[in-house]
Amino acid sequence: MRAHPIDRPADLDVVRESCDRVADNYAHMVVTTGMGDIRRHPWLKASIDAFADTVGELGPVLDVGCGPGTVTAYLTERGLDVSGVDLSPRMIENARRLHPQCRFSIASATELDLGEASLGGVLGWWSLFNLPRDVLPQVLAHFAHALKPGGHLIAGTHVGDEDAVRTEAYGGVPVRWTTHKWRPEQFVDLIVQAGLHPVAELRLPADEWSGPGVVVMARRPG
Ligand SMILES: C[S@@+](CC[C@H](N)C(=O)[O-])C[C@H]1O[C@@H](n2cnc3c(N)ncnc32)[C@H](O)[C@@H]1O
Repeated sequence: MRAHPIDRPADLDVVRESCDRVADNYAHMVVTTGMGDIRRHPWLKASIDAFADTVGELGPVLDVGCGPGTVTAYLTERGLDVSGVDLSPRMIENARRLHPQCRFSIASATELDLGEASLGGVLGWWSLFNLPRDVLPQVLAHFAHALKPGGHLIAGTHVGDEDAVRTEAYGGVPVRWTTHKWRPEQFVDLIVQAGLHPVAELRLPADEWSGPGVVVMARRPG
């Protein structure tokens, strides 16, 4: 049990149900259209490669909100000691089916019990945007505490000012969740408040799949 538990998002069960509902379509779209597949997006791949080059030797890596495991599998292939975790059991079923060579488990980012300085790297790769605005800083602080000195976080998220209530996603599947968008400077600020030093920031314009986004990589000092 953690000494200071992270607040449980009020909508966690609703988000989990929605993620379960979209999981099959999401996994199918990654495979058939390349959506979310970093191999098809050179700048996203470049940031994941920079992350992998940096944390490769530092210790275990955790892909939080790994979905169908696309990035977990890529990092495994690159030789990293990586595992994936996701809120949605159905996402994890898909991840295990698509990438049987990888390690996956089911848990919310808000319920992880990560040891102090136990990780070389942690990812929040387009998986933290459902967290309420007052909960994300707590999750980032837990990530920072779990990183070894010199360990890195890489996080990507949707850019904007609003809390967008989604009623359908990924091919018209009915969902109920809120996408909490962040301005890049706010998102970087949260990461700094968590005790990490930003080392790179990549801004992405809207594309056929998604609105604008930002990727931030940050290091635990020491
Ligand atoms: C847009 S998908 C991204 C999946 C994966 N990172 C990728 O790039 O393909 C968002 C993922 O975050 C997961 N997720 C949402 N809230 C979460 C939470 N509180 N804890 C862990 N995972 C969560 C969803 O189940 C979903 O798999």
